[in-house]
Amino acid sequence: MKPKVFVSRLIPDEGLNLVLDACDAEVWQDELPPPREILLEKIRDKVGLLSLLTDKIDAELMDMNPQLRVVSNYAVGFDNVDIPAATARGLPIGNTPGVLTDTTADFAFTLLMSAARRVVEGADYVRAGKWKTWGPKLLMGVDVHGATLGLVGFGRIGQAMAKRASGFDMRVLYYDQYRRADLEQSMGVMYADMDTLLRESDFISIHTDLNATTRHMFNADAFSKMKASAILVNTARGPVIDHAALYDALSSGKIRVAALDVTEPEPIPMDSPLRTLPNCLVVPHIASATIATRGKMAEMAAKNLIAGVNGERLPTPVNPEVYDKEMRK
Ligand code: DGY
Repeated sequence: MKPKVFVSRLIPDEGLNLVLDACDAEVWQDELPPPREILLEKIRDKVGLLSLLTDKIDAELMDMNPQLRVVSNYAVGFDNVDIPAATARGLPIGNTPGVLTDTTADFAFTLLMSAARRVVEGADYVRAGKWKTWGPKLLMGVDVHGATLGLVGFGRIGQAMAKRASGFDMRVLYYDQYRRADLEQSMGVMYADMDTLLRESDFISIHTDLNATTRHMFNADAFSKMKASAILVNTARGPVIDHAALYDALSSGKIRVAALDVTEPEPIPMDSPLRTLPNCLVVPHIASATIATRGKMAEMAAKNLIAGVNGERLPTPVNPEVYDKEMRK
């Protein structure tokens, strides 16, 4: 008998077909995620769960079904999963690192460029029929080349941003909990403490994970230290920014523009004042959304799921410590 699993959304075929071949899979077909009570109900008789970042995977869910052998999260980020609770229960959690690094950095750079050069405003202007002539002062933006880029978080995606920035002759500062002195010379980047980075950067791009230290790291205090001309890009997690403080900073001119792929909450509420600001560009969490990358993520998530339900080590576990203990059988 094939192992029973629940897949909480339709993922690309590259992964879905692997799961359908190897498992007795129930796949949630709606565009919206399964409501909490339905998710809890669905996993009751399953040994594996392929979850999305929109599913909250907590101790309650884990305890609902002690037979659960694996949760494979279709994302590199895993702030939707209570990792300590999973580890305490010997439950392996999988994620999809690596395959989305360049795609996400491409998009972060796209947002940076779009914000600097007012691409979306320009397209809206033409669509609205406002383009009458070439204008000497029409939609003037700011230069990217030669500017200072501050990277907050210097893991895989932060480093991929630094590579892109070097092609634009940018001066790159980075802040991370772990200094990477080994990369500084070869990548042409300089470590800076957070205050220096905030004060000196023309562009700041966020690439940190979400944890207790980074939650609302961009708050009123941080905005007060940034340049009035600064452009802030977030493709990491929404709650790294305090959105009320961001609204204040953007509407009072403390910073110039924000370009957000991620918000708190998601989707951004219809009544969020940020939606009304011309200097706040919001897109719907699509930094990793290319056909190739989403396919690779699906394949990785499927392989983690299948390994887990078969009692094998996940190819990319978030909590490898579980293998030091007795695994869930
Ligand atoms: C992730 O993987 O964590 C992204 O936010 C979605 O690709």
